[in-house]
Amino acid sequence: MSSDERPVLVLDLGGQYSQLIARRVRERRVYSELIRYDVSAAEIRRRNPYALILSGGPASVYAEGAPRVDPALFRLGIPTLGICYGMQLMAQELGGRVDRTGVSEFGKTELEAEDGALFAGLPARQTTWMSHRDSVVAAPTGARVVAGSATTPIAAFEEPEGRLYGVQFHPEVVHTPHGNRLLENFLYDVAGAPATWTASAVIEDAVERIRAQVGSERVLCGLSGGVDSAVAALLVHRAVGDQLTCVFVDHGLLRAGEAAQVVETFHGHFQVPLVHVEARERFLGRLGGVEEPEEKRRRIGEEFIRVFEEEARTLGRVAHLVQGTLYSDVIESGGTDGVAAKIKSHHNVGGLPADMQMELVEPLRLLFKDEVRRVGEELGLPEAMVWRQPFPGPGLAIRIIGEVTAERLEILREADAILQEEVRRAGLERELWQAFAVLPAIRSVGVQGDERTYAYPIAIRAVTSEDAMTADWARLPHDLLETISSRIVNELPGVNRVVLDITSKPPATIEWE
Ligand code: XMP
Repeated sequence: MSSDERPVLVLDLGGQYSQLIARRVRERRVYSELIRYDVSAAEIRRRNPYALILSGGPASVYAEGAPRVDPALFRLGIPTLGICYGMQLMAQELGGRVDRTGVSEFGKTELEAEDGALFAGLPARQTTWMSHRDSVVAAPTGARVVAGSATTPIAAFEEPEGRLYGVQFHPEVVHTPHGNRLLENFLYDVAGAPATWTASAVIEDAVERIRAQVGSERVLCGLSGGVDSAVAALLVHRAVGDQLTCVFVDHGLLRAGEAAQVVETFHGHFQVPLVHVEARERFLGRLGGVEEPEEKRRRIGEEFIRVFEEEARTLGRVAHLVQGTLYSDVIESGGTDGVAAKIKSHHNVGGLPADMQMELVEPLRLLFKDEVRRVGEELGLPEAMVWRQPFPGPGLAIRIIGEVTAERLEILREADAILQEEVRRAGLERELWQAFAVLPAIRSVGVQGDERTYAYPIAIRAVTSEDAMTADWARLPHDLLETISSRIVNELPGVNRVVLDITSKPPATIEWE
């Protein structure tokens, strides 16, 4: 995988923040890539990076099998910043010493810094985030110690001649309030990297690469209503225009207004050739009588592939298929090459026909999610699509406990629309990972206008999260909950009770099914 942009290369030594370092660098508008730590110095030289950053890592530099980098890296004259384990590795390789001093630091730690390149313009005393057992007890030969904490006298060093820098703390986490400034000092002033990785540069770069890959062939893109497929499609459209055809399989399980927005945006506004397949009835038919969550998912996935395949066949020969793979997917699957993969099976998102031999076009393969959103904004995608919260592929079907019927789907969709509207009005949409309504498969007794009712409850699920692996239930303001509750029971005859899900993940999951 390569962009023409000169990168800052982050060598991943196994720390939990490695990916975050690459993101932080990109937020400073400098293109960065996360690469394996065992890369050779020759390969590094070939990539001609502005700088190297050695990440943290869980190991002790003395542990057997601890990750080591090619020591020749340090003699390339490339500005290099070691963070935590990366700093310790530099000390060990460059004539300093690392010890288990018996003093560990975990969490917020006060730091005293001296003037120098890294700390230029920063307060002499600042809070940093530490997480280490071993400490550097002798800095590399010729390096000057520029910061220390009460228990770790060598918390940062600089060796300007060799262009080598190290910090024991984590500038990339939010708990180091001046961390971004320190990274800027390193990137802009020490390494001289220009802040050119902007959304428009990303678009230009992507457009060139798409043109080179696609040539004059035709391209197919499935739209899901989500931001990734939307941005991927718009990039490809900008690159090759009407060689692109988008297929939107509308399974009828999206939220209120979403399907219309996809059609209006792509067909109406951007004039992208769009096949809108209204398949609601087909999906409802397949879901009839099905209550088991995994069976619902399976049927929806299978039907999706069938419909997509049927439509794709009517388009004749199409050589390429767009997929919204993100850089974080690439990193997590351990892949680093940019060779377009052939489709082997249909376990990809959205479901791809097994026997369609198309080459994948992956215009987001170099981008993190927040960059995809910035590119979406730059391309003029409506805000609701750019900032859409994560939404499961099987849609509302897995938020309706028990059988999915047209009637129950309508109740949930309307309840969800009220909830979305009020959360947005309260200005909380971007603070929440997700907020949505769930329709349980029970009914309970209520009283409305002197009449006994026997109707469904609606459950409200709102969570905060970093990555959906864990989540906490959101403490929504009581006034907001009151508004949502009274609107839902007043506006929806099928509902007479609203309940709030106050479970974190784990032990619950975010979705109910
Ligand atoms: P859970 O319920 O497992 O959800 O805590 C974690 C995150 O994943 C989303 N999710 C899905 N996304 N297809 C998707 O594309 C699915 O089948 C699916 N199931 C859950 C969920 O919305 C949450 O953000």
